[in-house]
Amino acid sequence: MTNLSDSFKDLKAREQRELEQGGPQAIQKQHQSGKLTARERLERLFDQGSFCETDMFVRHRCTDFNMAQTYVAGEGVVTGYGTVNGRRVCAFSQDFTALGGTLGEMHSKKICKIMDLALKTGVPLVGLNDSGGARIQEGVDALSGYGNIFYRNSCLSGVVPQISAIMGPTAGGAVYSPALTDFIFMVKNTSHMFITGPDVIKSATGEIIDFENLGGAAVHNSKSGVAHFACENDADAIDNIKTLLSYLPSNNMEDAPRTEAKVDSRDYVPELDDIIPSEAMSDYDMKKVIRLIVDNGEFIEPHEFFARNIITCFARIGGYPIGIIANQPKELAGCLDVNAADKATRFIRFCDSFNIPLLTITDVPGYLPGSEQEWSGIIRHGAKLLWCYSEATVPKITLITRKAYGGAYLAMCSRDLGADCVLAWPTAEIAVMGAEGAANIIHRREIKEASNPKAKLQEKISEYRNLFYNPYVAASRGFIDAVIMPNQTRVKIINSLAMLQTKRESRPPKKHGNIPV
Ligand code: HXC
Repeated sequence: MTNLSDSFKDLKAREQRELEQGGPQAIQKQHQSGKLTARERLERLFDQGSFCETDMFVRHRCTDFNMAQTYVAGEGVVTGYGTVNGRRVCAFSQDFTALGGTLGEMHSKKICKIMDLALKTGVPLVGLNDSGGARIQEGVDALSGYGNIFYRNSCLSGVVPQISAIMGPTAGGAVYSPALTDFIFMVKNTSHMFITGPDVIKSATGEIIDFENLGGAAVHNSKSGVAHFACENDADAIDNIKTLLSYLPSNNMEDAPRTEAKVDSRDYVPELDDIIPSEAMSDYDMKKVIRLIVDNGEFIEPHEFFARNIITCFARIGGYPIGIIANQPKELAGCLDVNAADKATRFIRFCDSFNIPLLTITDVPGYLPGSEQEWSGIIRHGAKLLWCYSEATVPKITLITRKAYGGAYLAMCSRDLGADCVLAWPTAEIAVMGAEGAANIIHRREIKEASNPKAKLQEKISEYRNLFYNPYVAASRGFIDAVIMPNQTRVKIINSLAMLQTKRESRPPKKHGNIPV
């Protein structure tokens, strides 16, 4: 008969072995490369003492390549659940110290199990990735493991927020699980994502490139748009994940947490009256407008370094969580292009999936002209923006600060795409196009035949400006609900958000639409 204290000791010994991960040498190597271990990362993510580990004793079943004798602590991944700032979260954290955090059949089963738990309990999933990829010894079982995760990523999408952090290598098809989640955090210098590594690229194409330039945090945050956040180190990444979670609901059936706030005289913001430059062609920083409108000037900005001509961010206004999409006049004059349309569409669809109201701030002269944009598919990408705003049924508030021209006016959540409340500053200009272009088209013959064509052109430009460079024609048709002083913006948005809290709107039943991708 087994002595009870012996079985307790046995459990402790087994747990201890798992907690030691890949052993002191591997842990030292992990620390020397500037990384935390899988367990240290989870410790930082979860509220102290709240983490409940699952499947600690799972073992791989591979016998090829001497694997029967190979012990892999925790099967290379720590999984479990707990609370983050008091709210439940499920997580997995790959352990690079245990056979490179590689993914085989049972490693994948652990991840799938915690994903299933997140799905059925309506709890966000955080994945901390640090892995050599598919465990080569396990062959097709490892590939199947990835397939099972991809399938679940798709099932969870739109039900619970999925957040990935890349905290080491992520190579080959392994990149696709993070790519299927809602947000990717990368760590500068220690994380890399690529389909084929530098060696394969060199042998296949002759191109010579290093890991950082191929798939580092800077590249994926600024050029490819694959990643949404570039963090200084592991701790910074985890802290930012916690901040992001604070703006999100736990699932698609809940609202994001609201902080209590009352409208008072401090909500009138006189600084907003001085934002728009008197020179029509001058720019200003739209982030300043956002900072002055949102609670405590605080927001978190996914894709900060990608398509900077449009800003997407989460914030609170009067305590209400909100997703903001705003043109940035400081970059490309705020024009819409392929990447801006992609960036905004993804953000809007996320907000709509998770009941986060949208505030759109418009100052847009149009779509970026040029063959490069046309050949890159601005028609198809721009169409996404029209699509997703029309599809979104969350409260939609639009503020026009200055330019709102042509198709881009429509695309920035105009009344016709279902905006519930459209506000405009007195500086708003709502027109089919810029005055010079318009005058040249509609008065071409008159200008050509004039004794002084230049003067005639100027006269016609002024005529067009006087007629359309204001918000009042649009207001007279009801396309705009109110023309407001900029200082009233915050108050008006809070009132509108309060009114729209009970908004209910539906679309015709269908399996799903066919978004132009
Ligand atoms: C099995 C692996 C492994 C792998 C690493 N290891 N990658 N074991 N399968 N894919 C093991 C190493 O043998 C080593 O074991 C331990 O993990 C740590 O690896 P090191 O090489 O010592 O670490 P480091 O020098 O830091 O280099 C890390 C690395 C390198 C850059 C990730 O290991 C590497 O290039 N690995 C292969 C990466 C790769 O090509 N993956 C793609 C596989 S295909 P010991 O016992 O010595 O500690 C794929 C397709 C997925 O993922 C498709 C899904 C659809």
